[in-house]
Amino acid sequence: MSNDLAALLGGAPVRDQPMPVYNTIGEEEKKAVMEVLDSGVLSGFAAQPNDDHLGGPVVRGLEDSFCTTFGTRYAIAVNSATSALHAAVSAMKVGPGDEVIVPPYTMTASATAVLFTGAVPIFADIDDEVFCLDPRSVQARITPRTRGVMAVNLYGHPAPLIELKKLCDRHGLFLIEDNAQAPLAKIDGRYAGTIGDAGIFSMNRHKAMQAGEGGLVICNDREIAERCRLMRNHGEVLVDAFGMEDITNTVGLNYRITNLSAAVARAQFAKLPALTEPRVRLAERLSKGLSQIPGITPPVVRDGCTHVYYFFTMKYDAEVTGLPRKLFTDAVRAEGFPINPGYVKPLYLEPMYQKRICFGSNGAPFSFNPHIDENTYRRGICPVVERLQDSDLMWTNVTYPPLTEKDMDAFVEACAKVIRNRGRLLAKEWNSAAE
Ligand SMILES: Cc1ncc(COP(=O)(O)O)c(C=O)c1O
Repeated sequence: MSNDLAALLGGAPVRDQPMPVYNTIGEEEKKAVMEVLDSGVLSGFAAQPNDDHLGGPVVRGLEDSFCTTFGTRYAIAVNSATSALHAAVSAMKVGPGDEVIVPPYTMTASATAVLFTGAVPIFADIDDEVFCLDPRSVQARITPRTRGVMAVNLYGHPAPLIELKKLCDRHGLFLIEDNAQAPLAKIDGRYAGTIGDAGIFSMNRHKAMQAGEGGLVICNDREIAERCRLMRNHGEVLVDAFGMEDITNTVGLNYRITNLSAAVARAQFAKLPALTEPRVRLAERLSKGLSQIPGITPPVVRDGCTHVYYFFTMKYDAEVTGLPRKLFTDAVRAEGFPINPGYVKPLYLEPMYQKRICFGSNGAPFSFNPHIDENTYRRGICPVVERLQDSDLMWTNVTYPPLTEKDMDAFVEACAKVIRNRGRLLAKEWNSAAE
């Protein structure tokens, strides 16, 4: 048997070891957690109109370190980025009848955060270079009902935030940045997450910094910060004591982060530059190798931007490689590497949008907006997203230590080997289709 036979056809795989666990928890996190456990205070929060409302020193310490790094006046720590997104959209006083423009190629919470206020997400297309909101598509979706834009800094690369901010300012719209995937990415020397009116971070188990679960909102506006804090902690019983006149969207939830998570989050955040640097180095090595393979385009880093490579994306051209994308990714996986065709179903194709059934069975909140109909979420509204999902995009998460530059080269070799096997792989496909 030739050494070059694709693993999918029975050959030896390029990599025969399982993927190692990416474990970033060290002595710093253990020490921080033990301090919390020893204190006996696992949460400092209470829905009282006093300092307990702010969660205590562990939570404040985490928030202070975000303010210092990002240069914002406020940071509000919560128990997930989903909570942070909801708190931030609510803090913009969005409600039924309003529209917020969102990309459909993102984690579902970027859009459901809008639905939970009674408003609706209106999906704009993305560009097929960095996969973030296309300002031209955003412009085309603005109506008298539009209240704001949710930009997602996807895969670790900033959206065209400067342009989006100018567009929002021209139309009197807020800009929220879902920065869950791009902590420490930069655009024009500024951190992603700091250009919009609020920036959101995640600390879930897949993220560059992890606390099990956790999230933050950063912002410079005092009212936005206070409203996020009320949303975090049963605001409706606090507004009276705080003397708030405008109580719009102050009905709160329990979005409080525990001291245990906050302690881990703070230790992880302190290590974030050190966690980011090797990932960027591995991604650059992988980009260099893959750029030699016709039909595979490594991620683009726009002028003035830095990329933190939450995921490593590749554009795929089946005409050039001669292999359908699914067959290619199946074959690379058989060579021992994780690789995925497409990212997520464009959000508007999910049943909730197709049936316009969300809260109750009478169409709320879509029915609050008479301009929403069967065309609002029909297939075809975001052609770039659909093409990427159906044929042009792949991603992998191999750019995380303890994998090394040698492993990046092996990934490139796996891709090249699969393409060298194109004839045999296609023949197998045809034969199994004929059986
Ligand atoms: C872009 C984006 N937004 C929001 C979230 C939600 O994060 P969390 O799991 O912390 O709620 C994620 C998580 O995967 C995400 O990738």
